[in-house]
Amino acid sequence: MNTAQIAINGYGTIGKRIASAVELQPDMQVCGVAKTSPDYEANAARANGYPLYVASERSVEAFGEAGIDVAGTVEALIEACDVVVDATPSGVGKRYKARYDAADTPAIFQGGEAPEVAEQSFNARSNFEDCAGADSLRVVSCNTTGLTRFLSPLKEAYGIEKVRATLVRRGGDPSQSDRGPINDILPDPVSIPSHHGPDVQTVFPDLDIDTMGLKVPSTRMHVHTINVTLSEEPALRAITDQLSGESRLFVVPARLGTNGCGTLHEFAREMGRSRGDLYENCIWGESLALNGRDLYCYQAIHQESDVVPENIDAIRAITESASATESRALTDEALGIGILESVARMDRTETMLAD
Ligand SMILES: NC(=O)c1ccc[n+]([C@@H]2O[C@H](COP(=O)([O-])OP(=O)(O)OC[C@H]3O[C@@H](n4cnc5c(N)ncnc54)[C@H](OP(=O)(O)O)[C@@H]3O)[C@@H](O)[C@H]2O)c1
Repeated sequence: MNTAQIAINGYGTIGKRIASAVELQPDMQVCGVAKTSPDYEANAARANGYPLYVASERSVEAFGEAGIDVAGTVEALIEACDVVVDATPSGVGKRYKARYDAADTPAIFQGGEAPEVAEQSFNARSNFEDCAGADSLRVVSCNTTGLTRFLSPLKEAYGIEKVRATLVRRGGDPSQSDRGPINDILPDPVSIPSHHGPDVQTVFPDLDIDTMGLKVPSTRMHVHTINVTLSEEPALRAITDQLSGESRLFVVPARLGTNGCGTLHEFAREMGRSRGDLYENCIWGESLALNGRDLYCYQAIHQESDVVPENIDAIRAITESASATESRALTDEALGIGILESVARMDRTETMLAD
């Protein structure tokens, strides 16, 4: 098996997690990460053993003064790698695009960039095969990843007439002390529909979907309230079983007592998840309800980590090194995706035996 050399441009919330995930895969490794400032994350990157590259010659000096070794500028990193994963802040990736193209280096962008930045928007469960061999891909945002993953199996099994979703979004990530609100509930955007529905349509162009957004004072996760009008009327049990069978959907049983995002996170930490990450959509099982063809539920999305397995699969799609099924299985195994579900199932088996 060839080991693909992966560059991570931007070592923040998303970039550092992608770097860790790449290192856990059997078929790829990190050849370097890039940043602009010699801060705690630069120190952490070096401590984690990654060659550190900087955005410009000017930064080399600043890093030198801070006593942090650098391997070169980001240009050299882009030249040296097989694939670059751009995890720079929203809008910065677009500025790098010409440099990736000039070096003929396939690039993966994040959801903060406009869809036009890449040949195709990507979700591993929804359109891996359509993206195979592309020169550039855009892994859709954390919210869009959460929605497309949830909708894919329903679309395949029953057809979807219409989706309506309200996205209650965290105000910022834990390190973002400048974000808010700190004591308010903001319609965001206040105009309806929000941009999230059109983003889902970059993966499912024909899907009828309306979304609304709010921002709340939390750094933990997003919570979606979803209503899907299905084309057929299946039994609720069939839907629950189908969603539970999806590795990146964790249908959370009531018996776990995870009444919110705090307890979900605590569960992930207890299960030894790196950084307390929850790669899976967490769908509260009790919330799944069917009224005719209308399906309802709540799901929690860990914004810092749900796109991480998708980036790993995007690397295999762009390099055409595995099929969708093989890639998702490899990624899931390396990241321990499915462990939370199996703990929940073990709990159920034991309860049934006790009964
Ligand atoms: N955080 C989330 O919830 C989330 C979820 C899904 C998708 N995304 C998307 O993922 C992307 C990255 O977001 P993030 O939250 O990880 O951002 P972040 O935490 O701010 O990290 C951005 C990283 O990029 C580096 N950087 C800034 N300018 C750079 C440049 N010119 N060249 C190279 N590196 C540069 C920053 O380092 P310096 O500080 O040293 O410049 C930092 O390490 C965005 O498109 C975002 O929309 C974010």
